[in-house]
Amino acid sequence: EYIRLLRGLTSLEEEIAQKLSVKQVIIIPGDSGVDDTVQREMGRAAASLVYKHLGQNMTIAVSGGSTTAMMAEAINFTEPTTTVVPARGGLGERVEYQANTIAAVIATKLGGRYRLLHVKDAISEEVLEFILAGDAAILELSNIIKHADILVHGIGQAAKMAASRGLDESVVAEIAGKGAVGEALGQYCDLQGKIVYSTSSVGVRLDGLEDIGVVIAVAGGRKKAEALVAVANAGGQDILITDEAAAREVQTII
Ligand code: F6P
Repeated sequence: EYIRLLRGLTSLEEEIAQKLSVKQVIIIPGDSGVDDTVQREMGRAAASLVYKHLGQNMTIAVSGGSTTAMMAEAINFTEPTTTVVPARGGLGERVEYQANTIAAVIATKLGGRYRLLHVKDAISEEVLEFILAGDAAILELSNIIKHADILVHGIGQAAKMAASRGLDESVVAEIAGKGAVGEALGQYCDLQGKIVYSTSSVGVRLDGLEDIGVVIAVAGGRKKAEALVAVANAGGQDILITDEAAAREVQTII
């Protein structure tokens, strides 16, 4: 707490929360882009927020990514009445960073249960409609995800995420051409928060957060500053957990 006051992080938290119109910002000292222990601390902060908001018989939805994986690792409490679900279908990450895997880790730690989504992302709208129409269990799970009590999700740089997901070159170019800088929950948005491209999948999207109880975004590193601003401007975020490097850069943008 002393370090945070000394570095002015508490007032920076308030300033950014106000400017990005989120209820709360938590800033971890350091730069997770260069120091792994900072990402670990963000994970711990996310885990304690989940602890704070978790009641009985609640549903937690979680996105993929290395940052949410750190949150899963940091969970050190139980709540056996919890159901944990992935926020979206598979987005092509390595197994340990897939939303399904992270949901299972969290559920196991809580002593609760999980439900997994076995639908790939970035399938065509027609195939998606076909799946949802023909598979009642997936449709039901999709609705559970969309109404989760707590959602914890990561944020990424649009160009980096588009490239790493193996989208067609023309799509990657389209996303860049439309000025996308941030990505979360399979949707890409520009600095003003306008969604310019969506990958179709089952689960919750950035433009569907109004039905979720508490939305917690967790993302840090100086390079993610624009992405953070973009996703926050898209709306629906309640709490943002980030690091000092990203926060100071955000301050220069907004
Ligand atoms: O692919 C899932 C996802 O949550 C993306 O929506 C986000 O951009 C990314 O992971 C964040 O990953 P990381 O925390 O590893 O930077």
